[in-house]
Amino acid sequence: MKIAMVGSGYVGLVSGACFADFGHEVVCIDKDEDKIARLRQGIMPIYEPGLDALVEANARAGRLSFTTSLAEGIKGADAIFIAVGTPSRRGDGHADLTFVYAVAREVGQSLAHDAVVVTKSTVPVGTGDEVERIIRETGTPHRVSVVSNPEFLREGAAIGDFKRPDRIVIGAEDDYGRAVMREVYRPLFLNESPILFTSRRTSELIKYAANAFLATKITFINEIADLCEKVGANVQDVARGIGMDGRIGPKFLHAGPGYGGSCFPKDTLALLKTAEDYGSPMRIVEAVVKVNDSRKRAMGRKVIDALGGAEAARGKRAALLGLTFKPNTDDMRDSPALAIAQALLDAGVSVAAYDPEGMEQARPLLPEVTMCESAYDAITGADVVVIVTEWDAFRALDLNRVKQLAKAPVMVDLRNIYKPEDMRAAGFAYVSVGRG
Ligand code: UDX
Repeated sequence: MKIAMVGSGYVGLVSGACFADFGHEVVCIDKDEDKIARLRQGIMPIYEPGLDALVEANARAGRLSFTTSLAEGIKGADAIFIAVGTPSRRGDGHADLTFVYAVAREVGQSLAHDAVVVTKSTVPVGTGDEVERIIRETGTPHRVSVVSNPEFLREGAAIGDFKRPDRIVIGAEDDYGRAVMREVYRPLFLNESPILFTSRRTSELIKYAANAFLATKITFINEIADLCEKVGANVQDVARGIGMDGRIGPKFLHAGPGYGGSCFPKDTLALLKTAEDYGSPMRIVEAVVKVNDSRKRAMGRKVIDALGGAEAARGKRAALLGLTFKPNTDDMRDSPALAIAQALLDAGVSVAAYDPEGMEQARPLLPEVTMCESAYDAITGADVVVIVTEWDAFRALDLNRVKQLAKAPVMVDLRNIYKPEDMRAAGFAYVSVGRG
């Protein structure tokens, strides 16, 4: 099979490299000349564990190549994937489809053979219909089937998620589209990964419904955590206790500072916009978005309380450990760290920070934060140590050293990576999430 991947960002690059690893011949296309030049030299535009090795091996084997020319890249491709960004449109939260439609038009204009065009970008219901209309409008004489195939990749675990998915969802309207997609995913068929064939609109909605449900699950346990603090209960045991019920499931019940990242915040807003457009309100998701937004700043107040309240906090220093929205990524998009740092700065607290991968992305977003060389550098002279992201490197800090370097032995652990009794035994004033 020959596959073209238009858009070599996070999703396009991971998907392209994995398809090549399955033995398909893949061309990754991107308008960004610099990005393509660097990819040809094996330099990744993002941090994702295992991606550089996968790209290098498949490029060396001649199965993976890179180009800036769409017309060149889609030549002879059986399947042309659209994996360009769909950012939130400024003002209304709607997904911005400018890039998707521009690619559809260019594909229609350049196509010299029959092909299946697959939308992998997260797009609102009905986008496939519009992509099909745009391609037809170019007057291409070739047979084109437009298919939806959403991705469910988690950053930091994307390659594993791609190769061993819980499910593959394919929304196709004709047999040609279904047949080509079956071939594309044949290697995974053999692994017995379940494939769900459905209509294109259903497939588009599945992606939003999945992310909104997961965001709801997180937000639910976060509110239970708040209640736990008030009533003196333990949220981790509550999560275990409800998660053992097969109908609920144990995953995505970690209480924390609120969800961030490139997907949940953007996709929940886009789903709300679709719901509004069709006059079918989604009050649960509306509440989830509001609760999660206010939670991030509330975490800043939690740190201020640990410093003895607003009055006492002024002029003190906080060390933030972890800045990215989750570990194993350098992604700062909608990271709770942004709101927490701002809340602290607004309260007159100076902030020092360290993140194993996210410093470069974080620096321009947090110009008033002092970026440090290591966790211990950030801790030096701090009145409070705040665990914002649960990087492995922060799970076994040398607590004696922390006590020596910090001005006061105070820790706010927003990811519950330490045990309250251990921290108390080590002489810390320790605050976590939902462990009253
Ligand atoms: C998510 C979806 O998991 C993926 O299927 C989709 O395609 C893209 O969006 P990702 O954004 O990479 O992936 O991160 P994920 O691991 O899902 O975490 C999202 C956010 O939720 C993070 O901020 C994380 O810290 C938070 N989270 C997750 C919790 O606070 N508690 C949990 O139990 C799980």
